[in-house]
Formats: sequence, C-alpha cells, structure tokens
Amino acid sequence: MKDGGIERVAVLGAGVMGSQIAALMANAGLEVDLLDLPQGSDEAGRARAGLESLGRMRPSPLFLPEAAERIHPGSLSGTPELTRVQWVIEAVVEDLQVKRSLFERIAPGLGSSTLLTSNTSGLSIAALAEGLPADLRRRFLGVHFFNPPRYMKLVELIPGPGTDPSRTEEMSTFLRSRLGKGVVACRDTPNFIANRLGLFAVMDALRRMEVDGLTVEEVDAVTGPVLGRPRSATLRLCDLIGLDTLVHVARTARDGLEHDPGRDVFEPGDGVRAMVEAGLLGEKAGSGFYRRGEVGIEAIDLATLGYRARRSVRTPLPIRGHLGERLAAVTVGEDRLARFARDHLFATLGYCAFCAAEVADSLEDIDRVLRWGFHWEAGPFEQIDLIGASVLIKGLEEAGTEPPELLARVAASGARRVYGGDSGRRSVMAPDGGGHRPLRASGPPADADLLSGAEVLRECETARLVRLGDGAAAIELRGKLNVLGPGSLAFTRDTVAEGGFDLLVLTGAGEHLSAGADLRYVLQRIDAGAWAELDAYLQLFQKATAGVRYAPMPVVTAARGLALGGGCEFNLSAASRVAAAELRLGLVETRIGVVPGAGGCKEMVRRFGAEVDAFLPALQAGRMSDNALQARAWGFLDDSDDIRLDGDRLLEAAVTRARELVSGGWSPPQPRDLPVAGPDVLERLHAGIDAGAAEGRLGAHDAVVGKALARVVCGGGARGTISEQGLLDLEREAFLELCGTEATRARIAHMLETGKPLRN
Ligand code: NAI
Repeated sequence: MKDGGIERVAVLGAGVMGSQIAALMANAGLEVDLLDLPQGSDEAGRARAGLESLGRMRPSPLFLPEAAERIHPGSLSGTPELTRVQWVIEAVVEDLQVKRSLFERIAPGLGSSTLLTSNTSGLSIAALAEGLPADLRRRFLGVHFFNPPRYMKLVELIPGPGTDPSRTEEMSTFLRSRLGKGVVACRDTPNFIANRLGLFAVMDALRRMEVDGLTVEEVDAVTGPVLGRPRSATLRLCDLIGLDTLVHVARTARDGLEHDPGRDVFEPGDGVRAMVEAGLLGEKAGSGFYRRGEVGIEAIDLATLGYRARRSVRTPLPIRGHLGERLAAVTVGEDRLARFARDHLFATLGYCAFCAAEVADSLEDIDRVLRWGFHWEAGPFEQIDLIGASVLIKGLEEAGTEPPELLARVAASGARRVYGGDSGRRSVMAPDGGGHRPLRASGPPADADLLSGAEVLRECETARLVRLGDGAAAIELRGKLNVLGPGSLAFTRDTVAEGGFDLLVLTGAGEHLSAGADLRYVLQRIDAGAWAELDAYLQLFQKATAGVRYAPMPVVTAARGLALGGGCEFNLSAASRVAAAELRLGLVETRIGVVPGAGGCKEMVRRFGAEVDAFLPALQAGRMSDNALQARAWGFLDDSDDIRLDGDRLLEAAVTRARELVSGGWSPPQPRDLPVAGPDVLERLHAGIDAGAAEGRLGAHDAVVGKALARVVCGGGARGTISEQGLLDLEREAFLELCGTEATRARIAHMLETGKPLRN
C-alpha cells in the first residue's frame, strides 16, 4: 500500500501537542515546518518557544537532540507557505471557529494533493470540513494523536463525509509503517471513541466519588490495577490530563449527545467544578487531586479543597493475578469500596455496549482503543467476556439501568461471548449484535502472530526454533523478560551450530529481546560457592554469542523492548540488526557489579579498537539507551542497521536484511587479533578511577568494578594486539573474580529483589 511519499509535513500550532507531534515526525526522519501565531513582532516566536519546550520535557519527545534541526519554526500569519509539504497537521486550540478560519486562510496555499488533517479531540470532522473547497474536502480527515505522541500507540482516524477512502488508507499505512502507530478507524461522532468511552469511565468515577463521598485515595485504590487499568487509576490520570482540558472535552460530548443515556455523566460535579475555578488543575498547576507537599504527597479533601497527607487504603480486592479473577472479585465483593468499583465497572461496560454500534465498525476496534489509548489490560468487550454478559445484565438491572440490546444478544448467542463465536473460530460479535464475524487484523500480521502461527521445529522451556519459510528460521527467546539461563544458551549454541538454514533471525517472545543473564541462577551459584558451574555458565554464554557471530549463515536480530547485558551482547554479535526505535539497550553489567562477560567487551573493542574513551564511559556507567538512535550514536548499533518505529513488525525486515547479506556474498567473519589500548592507557584509566574515588565521585565498589572493566578493554595491559579469545578469557576472569566479592553479591541480590541497582 502506498504511503503517499510523505517526506515533509507542516504542523500548525506549537502548543503541547503540536510541538510533540513535530518531534514525532522529526524522529521518523521527516522535515517539519512548525508554525504558530507571531509573538509580538517576532513572527516565529511562539513556534520557536514550542520547539524549545521539547528540550525541557522528560523523557524527551526527541530521540536525539539533533533531530530538532529538522524542525523549522515559522509563522501562521498571512498565508503561510505550504506548497512544499505533503501533509498539514492542524493542532491549534480546540475551537471550531478558530480551526475553520485557519483552514480558510491556508487552503489557497496548499499543493493540489496535500493532505490536511485535524488533531481535534472530538469536534465534528464534518463541521470542520464545511467551507473547505470540495477538492480539499477529499483530502481532509481527523487524525487524532494522543499525549504523549511519542509513546501513545493509538491514533484515531476519522474520515469526514467527503474524504476519499484511498487517502484515508494512505494515511493509515503511513501512520502504521512509518510512525509505528496503532490505527483505529472511528465514526465522526462526538469525541470519537477514546474520549467518549475512556472519558466516560473517568467522569463516572468522578461523579460516583462525589455522590458516595469517597476519598481521592479510595477511588484510585479500586479503579487502577483492580480493574485492569494503570496504577495512575482515575485521579492521578486526571491530574496528568489537566482538569480544565478534561472538563472541556467532556463538554463536547455532553453538547453533542442530546439523547444519550450517559450524557449527565459528562457533566462535572460541584467538587470538580470548584477545583477548576480554584485553578487546582493538576500537575501543570502544581496542585490537583494530589500535590507534592512539604513532607510528601498530599491529597485534596473535595469538601473543603484543603490538602492533607495521603492515606493508604486497605481493600481486600486483588491487584494481581489473572484479570478475570480480579474482576470476579469486584463483582461479588460486598464492602463499600467493592460496591463502588462494581457499580462503576458495570456502568462503564454497559455504556460501551450501548454506544458500540454508534461509534465503531467493530467491537475489537473499541477494545484496541481502550488498550492503546488508556492502557487498559483488556478492552471493555474482552472484560465483558471475562465477567459474563448475563452477570453484567443482572448488575445493570439491579442498578436500575436498562441493559443495552447488544448484551442480551451476546448472552443469547451460542457461546455467550463477544469473542469466539458459535463455530469456535476467532470471531467477534457485530456491534449491533447481529451475529459473529471473523476478526479483522489491524494492519499486517505482527511478529507475535507470525511466531505463534509458525511451525515449531525444536523447543526447550526457554527458547524455540520456528520455521519462517524459504530457508529462513527464527530462534525465539522465551520466559520472564527472556532472561538467558543455561537452557536458552545451549539451545542457541546448538541451533546455530546445526545449521540447515540459509539464514536465522534471533528475537524474543513478547515485548523484549532479553533483559540479560539469569541473575537468579548466578546468585544461586555464588551462594553455593559453585564456581566451576558459574565458569561453565560463562563459557556456555560465550559459546552461544560466538556461535551467533561466526555462524555459517547470517544471524540477524529483531530486537525490541529491552536488550540488556547478555541481550545486548547477542545483539552486538549478530551479522546485522533490525531494531525497534524504542529499543532500550546497554551493557549495564556494572550496575550489578560485574563486567560484560559474554563478548560485550570484546565486541566493543572490535568496533573501537584502542579508542577506549569512545565507549568505556557508557560501560562504566552501565548506561541504558533511551532509544535505538541513541544506542547507535553510542556505537552499539551500526549505521547499516535498520531502525524502525513500528516495533511490532521487525521479523520480515530482519529476514529481508539477512537475504540481502546472503545475496551480497556474505561470508562468516573469522576471529582476528584486535588492537588494544595497552598498559599506558590502562594506567591512566586506573589513576582516573582512583582520583574519582578519592574525590567521592565514585563509590568504593564502583572503583573496583571500573578498574576490572578498564583492565579487560585494555587487553589486560598487553601491548599491540590481543586475540578475540584472549579478550573473552579476560572478560570471564574479571566476571568470576567480581562475583567473589560481597559487594557484587549484594548488588545482584538487590537487583533481583527490587529491579533497581544498589549503590554500594
Ligand atoms: P495548546 O493550547 O497547548 O496549543 C494550542 C496552540 O494553538 C498554541 O500554541 C496557540 O498559540 C495556538 N493558537 C491559539 N489560537 C490560535 C489561532 N487563533 N490561530 C492559530 N493558532 C492558534 O493546545 P494543545 O493541547 O496542544 O491542543 C491542540 C489540539 O490538539 C486541540 O485540538 C486539542 O483538542 C488536541 N489534543 C490535545 C491533547 C492534549 O493532551 N493536550 C491530546 C490530543 C489532542
């Protein structure tokens, strides 16, 4: 499918969203004109301020600070020059008249095939399109990004009455393949899907809180993980969004939904209104439902608008375990908080069922919106299947609400489920309840689908080999964070050695490539004093990464999520890499008091040779990249490696990359002697570490680990060159020696317990 050849875009409005959307586009390598109103006599003043605001945001919306050079601030006054861009993204204030008159002004300056989209949170696309020339109306649609656009997967796509379907398709392809977004097509109804249904959930909890007299903490305690929603639950989420924005967007729903049974829910209660009037708008105002007080977090008392220390809430409702069990506990719980959670859950799911046919073409789209846009563990219709439609119907009836027809149809269907269907195929109920139909994929198959559908050739507990077809296969690392224990290491070593394929992809199941060594295994060996076993584990690790490096066929990684420690070492050892742009990668071993022991040091020396200053600081600090472009700038990825914003779909690109290598005459690399920095540099590095320790910049154990690391990367102080095996031996020795120290043991144990590094 064409993506329209979009290479330059204009973003109109350099506020919260406009500037971040500009960053998203610049991250994707596009040139961006960022335009806003003049600031006094400074035509590009506001746009420049928007651009500068990016540098202050944490985490940064930009992958690399240099990407800002692709964003060109300019002015919206007069008739801005827009002929060079293929896509104009409007992100000015949420006001129909402002947006319309802006369109009127820019229309004459647009190229004849330029796309025009609005980032409106919920205004009518048809109303926005009124007044546009007919030709432009065919190229106009709603493209609704969520905040923060770098991280939020969801983009709602809302064609207007005159939009040319092929332009909508083109946009959808671009958003998915170039920006890596999850695209959901919505109907042009007030607030579309996310801000209708997700906001209903928020507003319903707010109203019930005021009616039932619950505290802020009580509401959050039972509307977060208990219901399969993020820990920010309801009120921390409100503080993040900003209460003024929330009330404004809710008003669009209320104004546009005259006969909607949920209409009153979109009306804020007295307490929320009073907060808005008092400027207690949330994080941006410093105070909202919560604020940071002198001695810690405080919560508001809605009756007085005063703040008091945050209280912890006890509830028997589970926050862990299978979501079905959590929801079941809510439906039968009898205490005050359980009743609140149940009434809120039923009202929310009931409302979703009520609106479904009006807002979406398919129920799975609604589920995707709530998962991608609000981070719910399961969408409303997946939740209805977990609870049971008949339980929900009964609950709504008891609350005096008429259950929507759709629920009755689900309950009357053969399997009594939204998903699954009578014939047991993967199907979903139609939004109007008119029977089940096959599920529709959102875009081309994701890697997870390809892997789960592929033929399994061999497997062990923590790894599988699957056939990808046409001489290609993939090793899939599995288990918790795909950590690398003896099982998956031996599996990888043997699979690569056995060959039988033209090419191999190395990837991880789920969200990550691998978080690295199996620390539990390592700690057990340390505690048992089983040094020979630990040495054998390291040797196996080195054989596995070396197997990947010297394999008779190219091994290409498809890496997303975490590639840390040993995961990073596999990535470094591959013939080439396809990486998700959001890859978090690093040789982070010093955080647990060891050095990279499976070829990580060797690979960095192979890349940088004697230039240790170019990579050693990253290893000493155990740095983890914020994204793949940063990792490349640090030298952990090569210029020829493929970095993709669509992190869900890397496999195919990895296979293509490997095929290119094969057809380009690739042959396995041979181990060689590597130039090393030698004794003088090592002496300088050690002196620097001693000085750092003396000045208190480095902890005592950091100095010990730092010196060991410096020794390895300098080739143990050898002059000239050292063999690759020589470097591997140095890595292993240093690793084992450090494992023998109490401080390293403490670091490993702490990491296992808390997931955080111990500074000792
Ligand atoms: P904002 O208030 O941060 O920025 C709006 C920008 O519009 C400002 O830079 C302002 O100078 C400019 N502007 C104001 N009046 C104008 C006029 N008459 N002509 C041209 N430009 C004008 O707003 P924000 O939050 O960036 O929202 C922009 C759009 O994105 C709105 O439609 C909003 O509903 C939507 N949106 C906002 C989200 C959010 O979380 N803030 C999330 C998703 C969509």
